[in-house]
Amino acid sequence: MKSPRFNAFNPALRKHLQQRLGVWFNQHKRPMPWRNTADPYAIWLSEVMLQQTQVATVMPYYTRFLQQLPDIQALAAAPLEEVLKLWAGLGYYRRAKSLHRTAQIIASTYHGIFPCKYDDILELPGIGRYTAGAVASIAFHEKVPVLDGNVMRVLSRLLLIRENITNSQTQKRLWHIAEALVPRTNPGDFNQAMMELGATICTPTHPRCESCPLNTVCTAQRRHMQNQLPVKQRKAATPHIKMAAVVIDSPQGHLLAQRKAGGLWEHLWEFPAFELPRRNAATASQQLFDLTGLNIKLKRLTTSVTHQLTHRHLEYTIFVGTSKSKRNPRLTADLAGHYESIRWISDLSAVPKSRLTEKISAHSVNRQQKIPTAKPPGPK
Ligand code: ADE
Repeated sequence: MKSPRFNAFNPALRKHLQQRLGVWFNQHKRPMPWRNTADPYAIWLSEVMLQQTQVATVMPYYTRFLQQLPDIQALAAAPLEEVLKLWAGLGYYRRAKSLHRTAQIIASTYHGIFPCKYDDILELPGIGRYTAGAVASIAFHEKVPVLDGNVMRVLSRLLLIRENITNSQTQKRLWHIAEALVPRTNPGDFNQAMMELGATICTPTHPRCESCPLNTVCTAQRRHMQNQLPVKQRKAATPHIKMAAVVIDSPQGHLLAQRKAGGLWEHLWEFPAFELPRRNAATASQQLFDLTGLNIKLKRLTTSVTHQLTHRHLEYTIFVGTSKSKRNPRLTADLAGHYESIRWISDLSAVPKSRLTEKISAHSVNRQQKIPTAKPPGPK
């Protein structure tokens, strides 16, 4: 006979789950700096950083950010450039911009005091149901749920949910279940325990069911179906795009372009880059000339740098060159429409850059390779 499914709406089962999970979390939670604070600003910052980013990556960024900008007022008063610099390398830079704007709204509307009710937190720009739930439950002990990828996985296994979890109807159902499970006492610990369980035990592959505090009530485990869940829509193959990044040095510094607002890597500085299907130095020289008006011999480096975005796989061939000209570059025809300015930057560490730009810099700056040069293009 089939074992019964876990029922999140059964009070006795719910209590059992809350107790087992609570004991487990107290014994096994990983030490994290944001777990030693009740400051809603610090908790909010950690939750924003942890979206799409692993705990180990976040740690040094979190500590440095709080040292530089220890409270809402400091963040609200900081120039966006400084915030982006502190974020540089974490990716998904819209989070940093939104964090900054939200701090300014809290400073002006709430006198710099973080709103303490879930409904008010949810009204803030850039704060969705997950972040509002995390901050309200962890910092203010409000009985509200969180649902991230880890919690979705735990719930889909616990209740044997076979529907596609990316489907909005399934998500609605999962939120409803998460809401039913969260206890009145220590809701923040419960929410963190669910996320922690998903991150450390109920992992996407090779879940460690033998060590799971919920294994006696988990329907998927009882029916040996944990490896088939959760069900996610199969992703289409990500396109592979060939790019060129051009690293030019000159007596005034390196040539860097700043990305426009509203797109990928907004406001960050990078080596001028463009799509280049054929990895040819002469074509790259021509493109650079079209973009900047600079007529420079380029060498192609042998190594390339790859970068994975959510929906695209980018491969950058690096071209290097030197300019002796004192002329300032200008954005003549911004081929891809990505940049708002371009200039010589003498200190690369002084401007905010993406992790990708750091990688390209590590591969190219101060490294000379003996590769035949292409002739520079003539003016058109
Ligand atoms: N993932 C995001 N926030 C978390 C938290 N506070 N605890 C565990 N995992 C998390």
